[in-house]
Amino acid sequence: MSDAPRINPSILAADFADMRAELARIGGADFVHVDVMDNHFVPNLTFGPQMVERIQATSPVPLDVHLMIDDPDRWAPGYAELGAASVTFHLEAANEPVALARRLRAIGARAGIAVKPMTPVESLFDILDDVDQILVMTVEPGFGGQSFMPETMPKLRRLSDEARRRGSSVWLQVDGGISPDTIAQAADAGADTFVAGSAVFGADDPDRAIAALRKLAAAHTH
Ligand code: DX5
Ligand code: ZN
Repeated sequence: MSDAPRINPSILAADFADMRAELARIGGADFVHVDVMDNHFVPNLTFGPQMVERIQATSPVPLDVHLMIDDPDRWAPGYAELGAASVTFHLEAANEPVALARRLRAIGARAGIAVKPMTPVESLFDILDDVDQILVMTVEPGFGGQSFMPETMPKLRRLSDEARRRGSSVWLQVDGGISPDTIAQAADAGADTFVAGSAVFGADDPDRAIAALRKLAAAHTH
């Protein structure tokens, strides 16, 4: 892999009342990870397009939107239209994932597809060429601050092997419990894009935490 590992801080762990200042603390990030939750697909509620539009207007780095919502076929294109660089929806929630991914790309966003920890990655092999990013959740989606699930690593490895076999340039993202203690095993299993909420915003110096995570991941990338 030629690119340096990407570190995408999740603003779920930021102070929602001071978002402009929080965004200014992560200028060294590759993308800002924006968790949209609808209290249906997951048992938690965050924010919708209006808030994401303001974050888009305020953020010094591009947006990596993670939609944990039902009916992404209806809602995801709006996030691409407001300018998000990357829009990821869940396979478990989409009615027509291939058509949706193509639509996101047509609008100009990177198209991403996510799977929960128990969803097999083999179900993604058919869509691999139509997406720019695959997110393998390393916790059950819904909340920040949960423990990394190492049992998701074998399927990440299978996905990474398949992508490599096809010569695919798809980015492989992990999200949930990523910290200095866990990032090496995810990099080792093939991840190149890392979401970290508490490990970045919980640090005294978020930009330093980002650099340290990137360095650790790079040391375990092969
Ligand atoms: C969980 C979210 C994650 C979350 C990660 O459902 O998708 O992006 O913010 O938070 P940490 O890094 O604290 O596990
Ligand atoms: Zn997320």
